This record gives sequence, C-alpha cells and structure tokens, in this order.
Amino acid sequence: MRDFLKALPKAELHLHIEGTLEPELMLTLADRNGVHLSYDSVGAIRAAYDFSDLQSFLDLYYQGMSVLRTAQDFEDLAMDYFRRAAAEGVVHVEMHVDPQAHLARGIELATVMEGLGRARRRAERELDLSSALILAFLRDRPAEEALDLLERAAPYWETLDAVGLDSAELGHPPAKFAEAFQRARSLGLARVAHAGEEGPPDYILEALDVLDVCRIDHGVRCLEDPTLVERLREEAMVLTVCPLSNLRLRVVERLEDHPLPAMLDAGLNITLNSDDPAYFGGGLLDNYIACRRAFGWSREVFLALAGNAIEAAFMDEGRRAELRDRLAACR
Ligand code: HPA
Ligand code: ZN
Repeated sequence: MRDFLKALPKAELHLHIEGTLEPELMLTLADRNGVHLSYDSVGAIRAAYDFSDLQSFLDLYYQGMSVLRTAQDFEDLAMDYFRRAAAEGVVHVEMHVDPQAHLARGIELATVMEGLGRARRRAERELDLSSALILAFLRDRPAEEALDLLERAAPYWETLDAVGLDSAELGHPPAKFAEAFQRARSLGLARVAHAGEEGPPDYILEALDVLDVCRIDHGVRCLEDPTLVERLREEAMVLTVCPLSNLRLRVVERLEDHPLPAMLDAGLNITLNSDDPAYFGGGLLDNYIACRRAFGWSREVFLALAGNAIEAAFMDEGRRAELRDRLAACR
C-alpha cells in the first residue's frame, strides 16, 4: 500500500512554504545569517514542537522564520522542500506565503518573491513539479494591512494564483477582509480562506458568502452545521483537509477520531494536505499513510482523493490532463 500511495501523482493544495522549514535548514540559515536561535540542535528544535493549539504553533512558526533573510534563503527553503516533495510522489504544490510576517521583520517583498520565483522555475525544470502561489493575509493583523500588501504586490500579480487567509482564526472572522478579497476578485485572482479549523461553522459560511472563495482550507468543523454540509456538498466546494496538522494542533486527540470519514460519507469534496510539514510530522505521503492506518481506506478512496486535488488545482488544462492520465495509470 505504501508503494501505491507513493506512486500516486499527488497534488498538495494546502501548504505554507514557511512551514516547510526543517530544523536542519533552520540551523544552517541561522549560522549563515548570524541569527541567534534559542536552540542549538535539531533535537532541541524538534523537542519544542509539542503544541497545545494553533496559537502555540504559530508562536514557534513566526520565530522559526526569523532565519530567512535573503532571496537565496527563500530559494533554498522552497527547493529543499520541493526535492523532498517530489521524492514522495508530489507532482504539484500550491503554496501559501506570509509576506506580512517578513515585512514586519524588515524583509522586502521583492526578496521573498524573487527567491520563491526562482525556486518555482527550477522545480518545473529540474523536478517536473508544477506549482501555484497563494498570497496569504494574516487575519490577526489589521484589514488595511492586507489591502496594502495586495497593492504592494502589484509587480507580482502575474505570478499569483490566489489570495488566502491564515494565522490565528478565533476572533478574526472572514468578513474582516471583505475589501481585500473584493480587490483580489477585481484583479482576477482566485480566493481561498482558512475557516473552520478552530473557528465555528459560521466562519465557513462567511468565507463563502462574503469572500467568495473557491476553496475552504481545513473546514473540519462544518459537520456541526447540517445545513452548511448540504450546501458544501451541493456546490462541490473543495475542502483542503490536513489530518496530521489537526492531530498535532489538537483539533482531534487521535486520528481515529478525525471527522474525515464522516466528511466523505457526507459526499464532500475532500483533498488531503500537509499544511506545515516540518512542524506537523510529515509531508503529503505521510498524511496519506496516516489516513490508511487510521481509517483503513481502500485504494479507490485514495484514487478519488488524489483525483479531487488534481481537479481542484490552479494549473493549466494541459498539465491537468497529463496528471489525470498519470493517475488513471495507477488504477
Ligand atoms: N493555520 C492557520 N494559519 C497558519 C497555519 C495553520 O495551520 N500554518 C501557517 N499559518
Ligand atoms: Zn494552513
């Protein structure tokens, strides 16, 4: 089964590029840039990754990215991840990036975008890995800052596929970002938003109605509202579910308790994703394998889930057709 899951052409639709920073590279970059870390070994960093909720993770996530300073650092970060992903059968990656977290540390937007852009072009050439870029707004920062970021990103609009909404969810409902998402829409950008990870089902509804998103990131709390579930099913709204993330951030205590099987039974359009693989104990293949262990799903279920991701991805139709064929060859 592991070989089968590895061979599936997998598309990763929910990933934060800063969340792919492995402890080894964190130490290398800290050394290269003379950044002081409060850890002196890979073991010490990993030992700190014992989270009680989303905020306890975000505190370390924002701390970890302090080692990223130059365009070369961002290129190395993404290439390091792309190589690992390609080795586990990932063929397409859609990455959120959090520029506000870098701007706040005095790192220019150009530094971030140029480094990531170089890595994306190399991945396409060297690894046959396609990618998309999602400009994420930090929902625990003021709404005006999101609008400002979107305008500052004008030189990069062409390279963006969507805008997204991430960081601390509770107390920061989607409607706070109505204007920024409206502006993104007027620019022809697609929209996605984290909702229903820790926040209530109403946040999912708001993301649909106010932000006009084409995907909900996480969305696992939708089951608390049967009317919402029915709507999500009818609209075939894509949910980018991240099982190992939900486990490590204590959205569920055991993977066996995860709502994924119930979500599938409800006929929802589910994809499996890894969120922040360096922090949550594994990449996309590990998430597939963890689901196999917890739920005993058959090959058909995984073929369907991998297919959902290919259909929902921001990619040109030529690439989609190619990946459909590669998936069909796994049957
Ligand atoms: N949830 C919300 N915001 C995030 C996450 C997450 O899992 N990872 C990075 N930013
Ligand atoms: Zn996320």
